[in-house]
Amino acid sequence: MTTPSAPREQWGSKLGFILAAAGSAIGLGNIWKFPYVVGENGGSAFIIIYLLCTAIIGLPVLVGEILIGRTTQRNPVGAFRALSGSRFWAGVGGMGVAAGFLILSFYAVIAGWSVGYIYESFSGDLFKYADPTKAAVHFEELTHDVVWIIGYFGFFMILTMGLVYAGVQKGIERGSKIMMPVLFLLLIFVMIRGITMEGSGAGLEFLLKPDWSHVSGQTFLIALGQAFFTLSMGMGAMLTYGSYMSKKDSVPSSALQILLLDTAIALVAGIAIFTSVFATGLDAAAGPGLIFHTLPVVFMKMPGGEIFGPIFFILLSIAALTSAISLLEVITAYFVDEKGWTRHRAVIVFGSVTFLIGIPSALSFNVLSDTTIFGLNFFGLVDYLTANIMLPLGGLLIAVFIAYVWKFDKALIELKNGAERLFNKNPLLITLWQIFIKFFAPVLIFLVLLHSTGILDVLGL
Ligand code: PFF
Repeated sequence: MTTPSAPREQWGSKLGFILAAAGSAIGLGNIWKFPYVVGENGGSAFIIIYLLCTAIIGLPVLVGEILIGRTTQRNPVGAFRALSGSRFWAGVGGMGVAAGFLILSFYAVIAGWSVGYIYESFSGDLFKYADPTKAAVHFEELTHDVVWIIGYFGFFMILTMGLVYAGVQKGIERGSKIMMPVLFLLLIFVMIRGITMEGSGAGLEFLLKPDWSHVSGQTFLIALGQAFFTLSMGMGAMLTYGSYMSKKDSVPSSALQILLLDTAIALVAGIAIFTSVFATGLDAAAGPGLIFHTLPVVFMKMPGGEIFGPIFFILLSIAALTSAISLLEVITAYFVDEKGWTRHRAVIVFGSVTFLIGIPSALSFNVLSDTTIFGLNFFGLVDYLTANIMLPLGGLLIAVFIAYVWKFDKALIELKNGAERLFNKNPLLITLWQIFIKFFAPVLIFLVLLHSTGILDVLGL
């Protein structure tokens, strides 16, 4: 194990950590993925399950993941090894690093679309498509163009690499501070436009009236996967960001703030998109293209849409960028801490490798669209495998690790650093965290993973 000789970089302030971690959490997962998985999984029943997953499983595990990072001040592999001395657990950290690679490889493809749409909206091309079906066709045309899709994907990867190359504080913290509040404000404008469109009521109904007939074991798995994905949890991104956090700051209150911000953005995005989808007669289950079919039409119908449109896609791209840098940061921190690489070398090598791995995902929307494995195209498969399997599994292992390997009492001593006031006022929180981390979180994740395999159905449970 290498011990870094220079003091580890730290966030400039507690707010710096929260904004950067929220920058990692808030991204395409909230604005692009949340609406389309809600649309594909039947609306509000899915949202309720997702919110439960976030509160019951997400929060306690998020606290735990950040805590492991802050305690050890290491990357995921080094952190698990330092606390357990075991190769198995170091391997669990390794699974996180691998998941980071895979997620970034398809995430940057979608982020490329968002960057491409900045150009589309500036050039005015986007606003030729006031008719919703035409907007959808235009999206298909763009994503069928291999040069367009790979070009913007590559461009986005270069941006990500540039920021991670610049180092933790300078690159990441500075950007997040300004952009996130502006994005939130703009989403609220889009939401208000959505709600005030004629026919938007059906969209609100879709979001508010639960229809449980669509719910299956898969729905639980997808909702759990979405909770992990949107909170950047279960693979060491939050652990790595936590490793730059000061012991004077409170982990639980930071985790709660990140979670609330992230959930608020997803819900606002959901309302903005579904009111518009129903008002314009688009298909709620259109899949990954959903926001790209819908938003051009919304901006067309919005006063000042020619200005808000490009600003929106710029901010969405920046939100994607602050998430992508956290993914590349996990891989970089691992190679810098464990293998003694320079930061610059790690960024260039693994940024390039991620680009290569992402090419089949980019091609899934055109030349490889008919090539499927287990009924999913390559993009869908990598997304499913990472978000719905690797992240929840990572979360399960984090909870088990804290409760039974590191041991709850030792973790608690660390957790109290910076949170003395919170726990003095609310001692019950300690018991709650104990119950959730030792029991509810691991058991529920296990059951959801098991349920999705169909085993429980076979057993008649
Ligand atoms: N949470 C990000 C989003 O919602 O867009 C995606 C993500 C970033 C997932 C970092 C995982 C991660 F480690």
